[in-house]
Amino acid sequence: MATTEGMKRGGFYDDHSEYQRRVAASGDDLVRAAVERIPPPGPGATYVIADYGASTGRNSVGSLRTAVDAVRAIDADRPICAIHNDLPTNDWNTLFANLTADEGSYLHAAGPTVVPLASAVSFFEPATPARTVHLGMSFSAAHWLREQPDVTVPEGFYSCEATGKVREALARQAADDWTTFLTARAADLAPGGRMIVQMVGTDTTTSPGDPLVTARALLRAMAEVAGEMAHDGVLDPAAVESYLLPVYARTIDEIRAPFSRAPVEAELTLETASVDRVANPYLDKLHEDHDAVAYAKAYAAFVRGFTESSLREHLFTPGTRSGTPDQAIDDFFARLQERFAADPERDAFEDWTATMVAARR
Ligand SMILES: C[S@@+](CC[C@H](N)C(=O)[O-])C[C@H]1O[C@@H](n2cnc3c(N)ncnc32)[C@H](O)[C@@H]1O
Repeated sequence: MATTEGMKRGGFYDDHSEYQRRVAASGDDLVRAAVERIPPPGPGATYVIADYGASTGRNSVGSLRTAVDAVRAIDADRPICAIHNDLPTNDWNTLFANLTADEGSYLHAAGPTVVPLASAVSFFEPATPARTVHLGMSFSAAHWLREQPDVTVPEGFYSCEATGKVREALARQAADDWTTFLTARAADLAPGGRMIVQMVGTDTTTSPGDPLVTARALLRAMAEVAGEMAHDGVLDPAAVESYLLPVYARTIDEIRAPFSRAPVEAELTLETASVDRVANPYLDKLHEDHDAVAYAKAYAAFVRGFTESSLREHLFTPGTRSGTPDQAIDDFFARLQERFAADPERDAFEDWTATMVAARR
């Protein structure tokens, strides 16, 4: 079973994912540069673009439009198909509604209609017809682990808080998943095709002390709020102790590792890999308008958009001791929001986005 059923449905994720939108937009130049290097298919043949972990699509719309415009700048009449990949439980109706409604969508690009297709399988397996994808992209998705880790991290909700053998087991699981993801993309890509991945990362280069891990302060705040709810009798303390968000923030070395060994080495060449800070749009707004209440509301909704499915399945359904899981989830996000408003800088989301581009041999 996948570790999430997808992002919060009905447009909630789209309305509260400004941060992910900034991350995807930061990849636009890489998209254009990749299109220039990818050998195009023969005259009149279809150019295939795939977006892995597309969710409900409002953010993908921007990146796919950038790719479509870059392809059409080279060949104005090129037939193109866009494959949106996500889990079968994704809110596909919202994705296709967004594609039609959004004025920036590739459906409104000049030239022959770009054909939208859905690939409703896990990205840990081949997800398109074999060797057909010219440009693959994945934004803010490949950090989700394939399975819920079978370990307990009493120190917190996040793999980076684990120590000793548990930490090693989590790093091994993430490494295996990364190799599996890349092997599956090698199966999808056409020869000479390119894959661009952006995901949460860890910067090990700038400080002598602790590495800088995306979302660490947030996950610490979430664990503390859940701890308070256990203290108040709303949650089972054992469930709080055993909950782990199944997301892993890779370092540059962890991203590079599979490219120098079988099976990835024979199929993909790593072209670029970096970890770069992406500024927090919620904090930027707070620094302009000094509205801590609005900041806290926006930040809590952003967190709810991508964590609710995992929290429901692995914390609130097994762990709620008073009221219903739905009430406990509302209570959790209300407490989190209150905490953000009381001291906006303390738990601010900090992002070090990991980016890599690989070429199919
Ligand atoms: C934070 S959203 C990112 C959505 C979009 N790419 C963006 O930039 O806004 C992560 C997406 O990855 C998807 N995802 C997680 N695990 C997956 C898997 N194994 N296979 C396919 N999609 C997966 C989730 O369902 C979710 O829609």
